[in-house]
Amino acid sequence: QSFFKPIQRTEPPSPTKRHTKISVVGTGNVGMAIAQTILTQGLADELALVDAKADKLQGEMLDLQHAAAFLPRTKIIASVEYDVTARSDLCIVTAGARQIPGESRLNLLQRNLALFSHIIPQLVHYSPHSILMIVSNPVDVLTYVAWKLSGFPSNRVIGSGTNLDSSRFRFLIADHLDVNAQDVQAYIVGEHGDSSVALWSSISVGGVPILSFLQMQQIAYEKETLEKIHRAVTESAYEVIRLKGYTSWAIGYSVASLARALLRDQRSIHPVSVLAKGFHGIEGGEVFLSLPAQLGRGGVLGVANVHLTDEEAQRLRHSAKTILEVQSQLGI
Ligand code: NAD
Ligand code: LAC
Repeated sequence: QSFFKPIQRTEPPSPTKRHTKISVVGTGNVGMAIAQTILTQGLADELALVDAKADKLQGEMLDLQHAAAFLPRTKIIASVEYDVTARSDLCIVTAGARQIPGESRLNLLQRNLALFSHIIPQLVHYSPHSILMIVSNPVDVLTYVAWKLSGFPSNRVIGSGTNLDSSRFRFLIADHLDVNAQDVQAYIVGEHGDSSVALWSSISVGGVPILSFLQMQQIAYEKETLEKIHRAVTESAYEVIRLKGYTSWAIGYSVASLARALLRDQRSIHPVSVLAKGFHGIEGGEVFLSLPAQLGRGGVLGVANVHLTDEEAQRLRHSAKTILEVQSQLGI
């Protein structure tokens, strides 16, 4: 017995919107920030949550379900078993160890590597056509690991990369100039971490290249000021972790923006971790790091051919080398 009496149809039903499913593996601080941003933005018809801790997972699922009256309709399911993720369009992996205050992201590798050999094959088994979005740290190396373990083409394996660092960068520049961060076009590329590279040469504010903007506004700047802003970006996560123990809200919004670009086929450009071999003279092995990439329903559609100064290209190659050195210890 249905609650509604079916209406008499005079014509066949119009084609309905495609069902969109997102899975989030790891429902700690980061996974839950991503889940709640996805829900508030109405990005999925179905959201599946997976974690190793059954009670915490069940509690998080119920807590989100209880917000149903205030949110766009989304079916929320959760399990410690991966069959709950079946037929996902996007699988987001946030499971794993996080840094303690002062610890580098690269230091997490050995602990999170073991988890990935368990998690990735199961996601692939249940959603062989999905896009994989890696968030766990060190995100660039683990995106490479996920690519290898999944057997997916590289356009369907993406690391959240420096999308977050670039937002921090845009915030700091906007704050410095007293403008809106959304009017600041600026990219951090390379490793999501200590060797990231700020692309000062291509920054613009309201379409005006920043260096001439500063001159026009008669705002004095020195290379040291620019370096200080970049240092503040790389220090951001360390500072937040020292103060509150973890980072969560900004990465939640960052990954939701990537989910929107992918699943709604926005074809927008985001600095994310992609297979970077061959770009800007990066050689020496297969390495994932962030470059401005165009994202759409097929995953990575292309990499923007941004102009880098010699110094920026050299720093980018150094960042690639840092990641490759860590990767060479993996044995995969
Ligand atoms: P957390 O400790 O709050 O959550 C981690 C979760 O992973 C826990 O709920 C734990 O039970 C779960 N987990 C552990 N092993 C699992 C397994 N085998 N299967 C399923 N779930 C498992 O940590 P957090 O603060 O949410 O951070 C998670 C990760 O995200 C860390 O590696 C952190 O460094 C990373 N991170 C990345 C970015 C980024 O920009 N890429 C930003 C913030 C945090
Ligand atoms: C970040 C994490 C810790 O917030 O990678 O940058």
